[in-house]
Amino acid sequence: MYGPTHLPKGEKVRKVTVPEIRDRKSNGPSIAMVTAYDFTMARLLDEAGVDIMLVGDSLGMVVQGLANTLPVTVDEICYHGRAVARGAQRAHVVGDMPFMSFQVSATQAIESAGKMMKEGAFESVKIEGGIEVADRVAQMVNIGIPVMGHVGLVPQRVHALGGFKVQGKTDETAERIIADAVALEQAGVYAIVLEAMPAEVASRVTRAVSVPTIGIGAGRGCDGQVLVCTDLLGMSRGHAPRFVKRFAEVGDAVVGATQAFIDEVRAGTFPDKEHEYQAAAPAAVRRTASD
Ligand code: KIV
Repeated sequence: MYGPTHLPKGEKVRKVTVPEIRDRKSNGPSIAMVTAYDFTMARLLDEAGVDIMLVGDSLGMVVQGLANTLPVTVDEICYHGRAVARGAQRAHVVGDMPFMSFQVSATQAIESAGKMMKEGAFESVKIEGGIEVADRVAQMVNIGIPVMGHVGLVPQRVHALGGFKVQGKTDETAERIIADAVALEQAGVYAIVLEAMPAEVASRVTRAVSVPTIGIGAGRGCDGQVLVCTDLLGMSRGHAPRFVKRFAEVGDAVVGATQAFIDEVRAGTFPDKEHEYQAAAPAAVRRTASD
């Protein structure tokens, strides 16, 4: 099951819907989710056939070069959401609720999520946290906003956690992650991201809830997997977490192509004739020219 360009001739592109994502838990196939932040990348990921594109607040680190996700705003998420939505013919598009867009109250959460759906063109929202955000999730779901949960390593708590650290390594913290996921399921989420936890804990969560789990650094026992687009494409530089697999080295391709451009500009070999415009030919010639 790949993207729109791989469809049999005449078949119309259909959006991946929330009920379909939920149904993958029992009927498969595994959910493939990737982050996206702009139109060009969204169009390519859609052509490849990802099921879900996440406009993550990771855009603070990936796009803006920040040290963490905390400064990202609802307006920024909406700006990137609109661009991604234009490129996502088939994939479902979910937007991350940024830090301090839902923590204050259920009313604040509903207002932020509503703005994201109206101004960011999102089809659902993702919220970090477990038991402590379940009331907000229930109220959003109640008024028709589909919500994806996110437990385990929740990057918006980076300072409280003392860094981007694997969670659920002890019995007590593993039990807390399971309780968080169950609370989210009961509040009505349609899927839950499980980030950075032992594979065994993620498998236990996956068995404990009736909605799909989507892992990142959570092993093979989840109902789907998510990666940051620049990680999976090999565009990131510097330290990468253990769970990242680079499926290509697009970063090297960008550097190589740009160096080739620089070399040709300096050598005067680019542009050549085929990249130049010609002045209009005289009328007599123009009638016979095929261009
Ligand atoms: O912000 C993000 O990109 C995320 C994913 C890592 C799941 O939350």
